[in-house]
Amino acid sequence: MNRRHFLTTTLAAAAVAQSSLLQARTAAAAQVSSPSQTTSGDSIGDSMQIVVLTGSPRENGNSNTLADFFIKGATEAGHSVQRFDAAQHAVTPCIACNSCGMDGPCVMDDDFEIVRPMLLAADMVVLVTPMYYFGISAQLKAVIDRFYAINGQLHVHKKAALLMTYANTSKRNAAPILSHYEELLDYMGWEDAGRVIAPGVWTEGSVKRTQYPQMAYELGRSLKA
Ligand SMILES: Cc1cc2nc3c(=O)[nH]c(=O)nc-3n(C[C@H](O)[C@H](O)[C@H](O)COP(=O)(O)O)c2cc1C
Repeated sequence: MNRRHFLTTTLAAAAVAQSSLLQARTAAAAQVSSPSQTTSGDSIGDSMQIVVLTGSPRENGNSNTLADFFIKGATEAGHSVQRFDAAQHAVTPCIACNSCGMDGPCVMDDDFEIVRPMLLAADMVVLVTPMYYFGISAQLKAVIDRFYAINGQLHVHKKAALLMTYANTSKRNAAPILSHYEELLDYMGWEDAGRVIAPGVWTEGSVKRTQYPQMAYELGRSLKA
């Protein structure tokens, strides 16, 4: 499918999805606001529902550290945050069967069902990943590719952010992930709310000795609905 067809199909699906969108968001929002499932703050009126998607298998790794600090800041600012650690879940890559028609039930029955309501309810989506061979991790990419089955419903205004860590220090090395992020947002109609790109961190946790966790905290803390 070329990009024009991809967009046309998506917009048609979005139109069909309009009537069910409110229902889906309301149902999902009810789930997200459950205190047992969120780290929600006190403020409701100005607060956002944020879903943080992480992609590293290193539980105490660099990108997860950035996620921790971002969530601390966002929670302190009164936002409700849910986190989905893709590497700790089983999300099968999209098999392109097209049975969903880009806006319908997916044939897969796996942990995407956990993150689906989070995505539908979210005012903001935060992508958190280590750099793997100049791209995002496969674990995070599998989740993004499964957007396909809710593609129409995700084409609503949301904010987004990117937290990324890598070992090298070359800015050029980060360009493919930044470009991917920008194209994804452009396609989804999402608005960039900020990025924290942390070069020069290789070993698990080494990012803690840099300024980047504080930057991630400040990004979360500064978010306005
Ligand atoms: C499979 C694999 C591929 C990697 N590819 C790159 C790369 O292309 N460029 C780079 O600078 N670092 C690369 N790294 C290093 C990681 O990006 C770096 O250690 C990062 O901080 C890990 O984040 P994490 O602790 O959140 O997993 C790679 C690491 C792994 C395991």
